[in-house]
Amino acid sequence: MSAPSTGKFGSRIGFILAAAGSAIGLGNIWRFPYTAGENGGAAFVLVYLGFVALIGIPVLLAELSIGRASGKNPVGAFETLDPKRGSKWPWVGSLGVLTGFGILSFYSVIAGWTLSYLWRALSGEFASAMSPEQSDVIFKQIISSPVEVVVMAGVFLLLTAVVVRGGVSGGIERAAKVLMPMFFVVLLVLAVRALTLPGGGAGVTFLFEPDFSKLSGAAVMSALGQALFSLSLGMGAMITYGSYLQKQEPLGLAGVSVALFDTAIAVLAGLIIFPALFSVGAEPSAGPGLVFVAMPAIFDQLPMGTAFGVAFYALLAVAALTSTISLLEVVVAYLVGERGWNREKAVWVVTGTCFLLAIPSALSQGAVDIQLFGQSFLDLMNILFGNVSLSLGALLIAVFAGWRWGADKALAEMKGMPMGGLWAVAIRYVCPLAIAGIMIYILVTGNFF
Ligand code: PFF
Repeated sequence: MSAPSTGKFGSRIGFILAAAGSAIGLGNIWRFPYTAGENGGAAFVLVYLGFVALIGIPVLLAELSIGRASGKNPVGAFETLDPKRGSKWPWVGSLGVLTGFGILSFYSVIAGWTLSYLWRALSGEFASAMSPEQSDVIFKQIISSPVEVVVMAGVFLLLTAVVVRGGVSGGIERAAKVLMPMFFVVLLVLAVRALTLPGGGAGVTFLFEPDFSKLSGAAVMSALGQALFSLSLGMGAMITYGSYLQKQEPLGLAGVSVALFDTAIAVLAGLIIFPALFSVGAEPSAGPGLVFVAMPAIFDQLPMGTAFGVAFYALLAVAALTSTISLLEVVVAYLVGERGWNREKAVWVVTGTCFLLAIPSALSQGAVDIQLFGQSFLDLMNILFGNVSLSLGALLIAVFAGWRWGADKALAEMKGMPMGGLWAVAIRYVCPLAIAGIMIYILVTGNFF
């Protein structure tokens, strides 16, 4: 029998901020804008928002209930709630642990880029006006420098390891409480500036005026993957955090606040990046470099631009850190709870092996040509773990909560959740049918890669 997870969140707001900290990260600021940009803008955004409401929130509540009811890591949670011998459900937890490890490996590379930008912002590099071309040159220079990308990813993993070693309420909760609200304020100021830039209005149109003819099956799959990735769903991160939540806390409200907060930050990021891009005449479909190329265009337009640049990259790094903490925590909670490892050993072994897997991702962006199936190694990890695996995980979690464990038991765990009947319909029918439908469509048409 696995050991229950140790450590609880000290307060409701601490939990909300830590869960929001997991959800809010590079997914909102880096992944959302470039995925929206690549998929034509507003139509993608609408589908994404629909998925957050119809799939994201129900699955989030399911994960939190599974976590708190069992008090366990993702593998132990399925074992506890489906105690039948030979049950296959714990495999869903194992898939989640593997996915967390996979996401952490490429996520730390992008987080490393953030550190590189922070360093450059500190040295005043973004103080003067910069054309999109100049900005692009800097970006390419950073991502193709083999030593810098590998070292920065390593530094980021190390920072993550140090916090996770300290345990839940010590490190995670305290950091999240102060820094997340600060991030929100800086983003608001940047959005106001970006929206008042000459030509910025075109960015708002791009984000909100849909042209559904641009919406492909692949775009719909990307929107689903983005909704799950952004809310940290489909791999048991929210099961793990749910297991640290005090019994008396109302789950429903906490879960819905996290989802709303996360979505608001993604839209806010869009309202910074697209107006900035359109005002300097850059393309929204530039791919994973989008944010990094777009942001320097704003800083020199602000009083105290350098300070804003520094604050932006520093807080983005912190937002990424509260997300990598949850990714590492999933794997560590599993090794501690199921394998009986001590926390210290689990943290260092996972961090070390994850660093090895991060190296090909880091190098694949220009330093060395590492391609598989026509994708760079990093893009492939992003699609495989950050999209396909999360979708499969979310599908199985919905089926488990709705049918195997049972919607009634989950609702009892949520304690007086308003509109519980609606949640039950969503988790039993809407989520499984929609996710399976999209995945089958993609498999049959094969147009995802
Ligand atoms: N939600 C995080 C982000 O948007 O940056 C990424 C993430 C964290 C995904 C934790 C999955 C996860 F379990």
